[in-house]
Amino acid sequence: MRFDTGCPCCRDDFYDYEEWLMQRVTVIDHPLAQHKLSLMRDKACPTQDFRRLLNEIGMLICCEMTRDLPLEAREVETPLAPTMAPMLAGKKLVFAPILRAGTGFLDGMLELAPAARVAHIGLYRDPKTLEAVEYYFKAPVDVADRLVILMDPMLATGNSAIAAIKLLKDKGVKEIRFACLLAAPEGIEKLRCAHPDVAIWTVAIDGHLNDHGYIVPGLGDAGDRMYGTK
Ligand code: URA
Repeated sequence: MRFDTGCPCCRDDFYDYEEWLMQRVTVIDHPLAQHKLSLMRDKACPTQDFRRLLNEIGMLICCEMTRDLPLEAREVETPLAPTMAPMLAGKKLVFAPILRAGTGFLDGMLELAPAARVAHIGLYRDPKTLEAVEYYFKAPVDVADRLVILMDPMLATGNSAIAAIKLLKDKGVKEIRFACLLAAPEGIEKLRCAHPDVAIWTVAIDGHLNDHGYIVPGLGDAGDRMYGTK
């Protein structure tokens, strides 16, 4: 979709949202991911099931997000013969959950890529302004040389993701990918405007945000549902 008036956020005349969406947003349509998300949307889904499902979806998302990682042939001695076998090559990974809900994906992702390092990014949402406020940041010293997979289940206003990406870029990180469970069109658009280089993987794109910045239909507050705090 090309907007005659340019991008609604930055008024960029060359804004072609559809083209950017095609290039940069992947909706993970794997039936297992879709099914698990539907179970999580149900307000009757118990806390322990919610947490387990988020973890399992983390694994599925991790598979999709690492699909293009480079491989190199290395010699391996099987019990029968030496052979050249493909092994991961290139940049190492950092998983970067935005606290607290982002940690819901972490164990699932680490199960698949146990050698990855972890960066924790503490941001909370000011309930009045909905702006992200930083309270914690701890990343591996060589984070700038790694591929960072930033994660937060809900891409709502986009403010937390934008702030987290800025913190990572300020540390010199050059390649960042963003993982979420649900995205609102408003959040995708705002993230594109601030950081068009960051690609997004999500399991669904929902209808809209309500006045409190919650995704509708969504699944409510992901952190509260994960930890049973409401
Ligand atoms: N954060 C959540 O946990 N849920 C939303 O719908 C939006 C932001």
